[in-house]
Amino acid sequence: MNYYENIVMKRHSCRGFADKKVDDDVLNELLTYYEDEESDLVDEIGTELKFYIGTVWDELKKSVGYNGFCIKAPAYMVIFSDVADHYLENAGYIAQGLTLKMTELGLSACWQTINDADEAKKALEADTDKAVACVVAFGYRDPYNDEKAVSKKSLDEMTDGFTYGRDIDTDLWYNSLEDALRAVCHSQSFQNLQPYKIIVDHDQIALIGLPDGMTSEADRLLNYGIVMFNFYAVMWSVRPTTPKWSFEPVTDRDLKLPKDVTYVAKCKI
Ligand SMILES: Cc1cc2nc3c(=O)[nH]c(=O)nc-3n(C[C@H](O)[C@H](O)[C@H](O)COP(=O)(O)O)c2cc1C
Repeated sequence: MNYYENIVMKRHSCRGFADKKVDDDVLNELLTYYEDEESDLVDEIGTELKFYIGTVWDELKKSVGYNGFCIKAPAYMVIFSDVADHYLENAGYIAQGLTLKMTELGLSACWQTINDADEAKKALEADTDKAVACVVAFGYRDPYNDEKAVSKKSLDEMTDGFTYGRDIDTDLWYNSLEDALRAVCHSQSFQNLQPYKIIVDHDQIALIGLPDGMTSEADRLLNYGIVMFNFYAVMWSVRPTTPKWSFEPVTDRDLKLPKDVTYVAKCKI
């Protein structure tokens, strides 16, 4: 299966769900994927996956969703996490893997921004010492939902070569890298702002955060986790030896970053 074409590119947010229950065997498949197959960014950070079916929307909408508008869905997926360095990128990465597993299972999903994580935890009456890190509404798309796919940054806009702001000759890319970078372009982000870019070098890529006055700190970090998963998953689907992303700084070259952008992470290619 071509993971990029058949999964990543098919993943579009859904804001109109059918009134159809998500069966236990489907939830169990998601749980098995989370427990047995899924990779993460930081092994040491403990996470828990919980599903909420049907009844939490009334309470959840007080602390979750754009402008206080939480999408109504038959089910919600919540990642709870220990709070540690990079826990939100890690949770975003894990949750993105699960949303793409949902795509594979014929489900649709929509990330929900968390306006108040403590209130969301109370609304969910969660029996855990971990914090609410991600909330995703999911279920089956209403067949009459005519929501259009939104446009995303092009590969040219998303990538620089060797240093910040420098054009890259895209003929130099080998095919699997191109698909993985296109998967970055297709990544879900808060309000589709895509405030990041990738600097491509011969041996590694670096994820760079761009300034934007709209995205909260938490959503910025979730965005990064989503990008990192999309890239890794497509690379892994063609080359399972792909190394993981690293948050270590780049010390062996100068990326020539302007002051207002942020280095996030790097990945060997
Ligand atoms: C961190 C994050 C928070 C989001 N919060 C919301 C939200 O509260 N409500 C909503 O309708 N969509 C939300 N979205 C979905 C984005 O608007 C959507 O991913 C983006 O517009 C791109 O569209 P696509 O998902 O169809 O590719 C969120 C996405 C991310 C990554």
